[in-house]
Amino acid sequence: MISAAARPYIDASVPVLRAHGLAITTTFYRNMFAAHPELTSLFNMGNQASGTQQQSLAAAVFAYAAHIGNTDVLGPVIERIVQKHLSIGIRAEHYPIVGQYLIGAIKETLGDAATVPLLAAWVEAYDSLAKVFIAAEKKGYADAGITPGALRPLRVMQRRNESAGVDAFTLEPVDGQPLPACKPGQYISVAVDFADGRHQMRQYSLSDAPDGKQWRITVKREVAGAATPSGAVSNWIHDHVVVGSTLLATHPFGEFMPDTDSIEPVVMLSAGVGITPMIATLNQIVRVQPTRHVIFSHAAQDRQHHAHQVDIAAAQRLMPNLQVVTFYLAPSDDGAHTGLMNIAMLPDWPHAHADVYLCGPTGFMKAQWQALVLAGVPVTRLHREVFGPDLLDMQD
Ligand SMILES: Cc1cc2nc3c(=O)[nH]c(=O)nc-3n(C[C@H](O)[C@H](O)[C@H](O)COP(=O)(O)OP(=O)(O)OC[C@H]3O[C@@H](n4cnc5c(N)ncnc54)[C@H](O)[C@@H]3O)c2cc1C
Ligand code: HEM
Repeated sequence: MISAAARPYIDASVPVLRAHGLAITTTFYRNMFAAHPELTSLFNMGNQASGTQQQSLAAAVFAYAAHIGNTDVLGPVIERIVQKHLSIGIRAEHYPIVGQYLIGAIKETLGDAATVPLLAAWVEAYDSLAKVFIAAEKKGYADAGITPGALRPLRVMQRRNESAGVDAFTLEPVDGQPLPACKPGQYISVAVDFADGRHQMRQYSLSDAPDGKQWRITVKREVAGAATPSGAVSNWIHDHVVVGSTLLATHPFGEFMPDTDSIEPVVMLSAGVGITPMIATLNQIVRVQPTRHVIFSHAAQDRQHHAHQVDIAAAQRLMPNLQVVTFYLAPSDDGAHTGLMNIAMLPDWPHAHADVYLCGPTGFMKAQWQALVLAGVPVTRLHREVFGPDLLDMQD
C-alpha cells in the first residue's frame, strides 16, 4: 500500500504515464544498461531490440499505477512476472538498481512536470511493488530449493526433427540425480554463452509430461526476416546441440499449468510452436485421465510444419474421447480443415464446465480469445501462454 499523501500524485500521473510510457522505459533501459552492462545477460536482448520488452514493462507500470492497492486485479499480472523473474534468477539486490533508473527515466522524460512530490510518490509506489516481488520471489526460490539463477547441466539424450525448422531435444541431468517435480505447461530457461562473450537465456516450455528423469523441449529455429535478424539462441541450439551435448538450464517455473487431473472436458487450442505446452499436457492426461473428453485443435501452415504428430497419434490410440481437429493454411487431403483455425468447426463442449487453453502467435491468440468470448465461453475459463512478454490486451 502507499500513503494517502502519495496517492493523488500516482492517480494523477496515470494518463501522463500512458502518454510517455514507452519513452520512459526506453530511457530507463538505455541508462541502466550503460551503467550496469552486466545486467544485459539477464535480459532478452532480442526483445530489447524489437521493442517488446520495453512495451511490457510500460504495461506493467500502467497496470500498477491504475490499480495500485487492488491485488485482485494485479495478482495475476504479478504472478506471471514473478514466475518469469524466478526463471531468470532476479535477486533482491537488483530492485534498487531498477528503481533508481526507472525513477530517473520518469524525471528525464517528464522534465519540469516531474515535481519533487510526484517523484517521491513514485519512489514510494515502486518500493511497495518491489517489496511484493521480492517477498514472492524469495518464497519461490525457497519452495524450489534453489539459489537464484542456479543452472543445471543437462545432457542431450535425443534430438528429433519434429517439423520444418523445429527439433525436439530430450534432456537428462548430468549428475544422475532426479529432476525436480513440475507441471505440464511450465518452462525452463536455457542459458547460452556465445563465442563473443554474450550470455543469454531463453524460455522453452517442456514438451512432454514430466517423469522426474527426463525433460524434453522443442525449439523452433527463428529465421531472419526481410528486416529482422535470425534469432540468437534458437539458431545456436539448432546449429550446435547434438546428442551428447550439455545444455545449461534452470529449474522449471511458470504459472500456465493446465489442470491435468480434472475429469471435466478440456479444450486445447494451439498454433505453430505453441503446440509444445499442449503436448506436455496431452501426454500427462494420457497417463492420468485417459478417458477424459479432450478437444485438441492445432493450426499449422501445412503438414510439414505440424510438430509432434507422433505424440498426437499415440494419444489417439489410448484416449477414446480425444477429438483432434487440425487446420492447415494449405489445402490437404488428410482430413485437416483448410484455412485459419475457426472454433465454429470444433465439436461442441459445455462452456461453463471446461477450461480452454491457448498458445500461439499474437494474432492467433487474439482471434481465438475474441471468438471464444463471443461464443459465450466465460473469461474465467480461458487461459493463455505467451511465448514472449505478455503484451496481449484481449479486449482490443
Ligand atoms: C514461457 C515461454 C515459453 C516458450 N516456449 C517455447 C517453445 O516451446 N519453443 C520455442 O521454439 N520457443 C519458445 N519460446 C520462445 C523462446 O523463448 C525464444 O523467444 C525463441 O526461441 C526466439 O529466441 P532467439 O534467441 O532465437 O531469438 P531472438 O534473438 O530473441 O530474436 C527474437 C525475435 O526478435 C527479432 N530481433 C532480434 N534482434 C532484432 C533487432 N535488432 N531488430 C529487430 N528485431 C530483432 C528477431 O528477428 C526475432 O524475430 C518460449 C518463450 C516463452 C516466454
Ligand atoms: C517492480 C519492479 C518490476 C516490474 C514492474 C517488472 C516487470 C516486468 C514485466 C512486465 C516483465 C515481462 C513479463 C512477461 O510477460 O514475460 C518482466 C520481465 C523481466 N524482468 Fe522485470 N520487473 C521488475 C523488476 C525487475 C528487476 C529488479 C529486474 C532485474 C534486473 C528485472 C528483470 C527482468 C527480466 C530480465 C525480465 C525478462 C525480460 C525478457 O525476457 O525480455 N525486473 N519484468
